[in-house]
Amino acid sequence: MWHSRFWVLSLAVLFLTPFVHASRASGRVDGSVKSSVFLSPPFFLQQGSVVNKYYYDIPFPRGHTALKSFDAEVVDEMGASVPLFETYLHHWTVERYYGPKGTQVDRWSPNFILARNAGVCKNDLAQYFGLGSETRRTSTWVPGPYGIEVGNPKEIPSGYEERWVLNVHAIDTRPGVKDRFRCTECKCSLYNVTKSEYGHPLDKDYIGGLYCCYDQTRCQLRDGFKGGEVRKLFLKYTVKWVEWDETIVPVKVYILDVTDPGKTTDRSSCKVEYQVEPCNLEEERNGKCVDTKKTTVAVPHGGEIVYGVAHQHSGGTGAALYGQDGRLLCSSIPTYGKGSEAGNEVGYIVGMSTCYPEPGSVRISDGELLTFESNYSSSQLHTGVMGLFYFLVADPQPLNSSISWGDEVMKRWWAFGLVGVTVAVIFGVGYRRLRRNGEGYQSI
Ligand SMILES: *[C@@H]1O[C@H](CO)[C@@H](O)[C@H](O)[C@H]1NC(C)=O
Ligand SMILES: *[C@@H]1O[C@H](CO)[C@@H](O)[C@H](O)[C@H]1NC(C)=O
Ligand SMILES: *[C@@H]1O[C@H](CO)[C@@H](O)[C@H](O)[C@H]1NC(C)=O
Repeated sequence: MWHSRFWVLSLAVLFLTPFVHASRASGRVDGSVKSSVFLSPPFFLQQGSVVNKYYYDIPFPRGHTALKSFDAEVVDEMGASVPLFETYLHHWTVERYYGPKGTQVDRWSPNFILARNAGVCKNDLAQYFGLGSETRRTSTWVPGPYGIEVGNPKEIPSGYEERWVLNVHAIDTRPGVKDRFRCTECKCSLYNVTKSEYGHPLDKDYIGGLYCCYDQTRCQLRDGFKGGEVRKLFLKYTVKWVEWDETIVPVKVYILDVTDPGKTTDRSSCKVEYQVEPCNLEEERNGKCVDTKKTTVAVPHGGEIVYGVAHQHSGGTGAALYGQDGRLLCSSIPTYGKGSEAGNEVGYIVGMSTCYPEPGSVRISDGELLTFESNYSSSQLHTGVMGLFYFLVADPQPLNSSISWGDEVMKRWWAFGLVGVTVAVIFGVGYRRLRRNGEGYQSI
């Protein structure tokens, strides 16, 4: 009896093994997430100064992977988090590109091939990730079985390799600057800028924004403020990813810009930034100092939205994405800091809420016209504000037969079923023998 039981047990364990593997396999996206922390090259700032630099070929996980998150913040030489009122992080972005093996290239090189996100602006906003002051308290996590597929060797042109370029735009607003808040809004008069970085005269009504706080400009200092302390800083970034495999559901990265005029034929005029005019007295009396800007844009490919987040600057009060029939797809609301520590700086947007719809519950169709709305308080003028919306879209997953009969997981289930039947039969036979034997003993 002991021999036969042992045999049955061993057989069961042996045949159950594939099933154990299968369940581990289906849970693996969370179980095998890898994480690496990197530092950008150092950048140097003193009171009022600006960096807007591109760092090519930054340290990044290599190989065919699915990205799960990208989080970043500014740190000093000791690795300590630097608060926004000292170093205002206007934005950081991470773009993917292909460069010829063994040769460093920048974006003006003919051999630089930008691997853009899925849309929809044509020239700008090609990044995969990007945030600003809200970076410390905004989730970038790609949930569940979803991942941003990168490093697929089939997509990399021969002779090239995949690389990443990091853009950091930061403004030093430590005591000494004349008007901290206007410095962060890149008010042209404070930067004494009338021409763009490339020498083109700026429009008369362009009074603030990115064209006035380009790399190496300096925001006006208090009268009599002398010198300044140069500080060495880094963007510290944490990338999480999993090795690519067939169980991962790839997602496309979309970025909508509220300044996009939204004509389906002309996708080239995302302006990235805009201006919020102050409200008039009557609006103020009626408590209606809200600037609502909207655009309607067609997304080329639909699917399931699995994540969404907006990007706004100080003064922002929320943003939302709607489907063609007016249904709310996702809204993203800023959190303002209330204290003085990094991640909670009073008056700054320190986080944006994110959307994580139930899988399959928020769907958009191919070519659907989406409306994106960005609200700001207009109780005062705001220059150079932004209204962006990032969202991740997976191809629709069939609800019925999400597992095809031929795939690996299904084969294991088949094997398991077969084993189950076999084990049941063996146990059944054994039990009947036992009973018969038992009856036999009793009868003695
Ligand atoms: C502003 O710029 C002009 C020329 O572009 C220069 O002559 C002037 O000195 C600058 N003013 C300050 C305060 O830097
Ligand atoms: C934006 O403001 C308008 C009122 O001007 C309001 O109807 C809308 O719900 C607001 N949207 C968000 C996302 O806050
Ligand atoms: C499920 O499958 C059946 C038969 O294949 C089909 O008729 C039905 O529409 C499917 N349902 C969904 C929600 O996909």
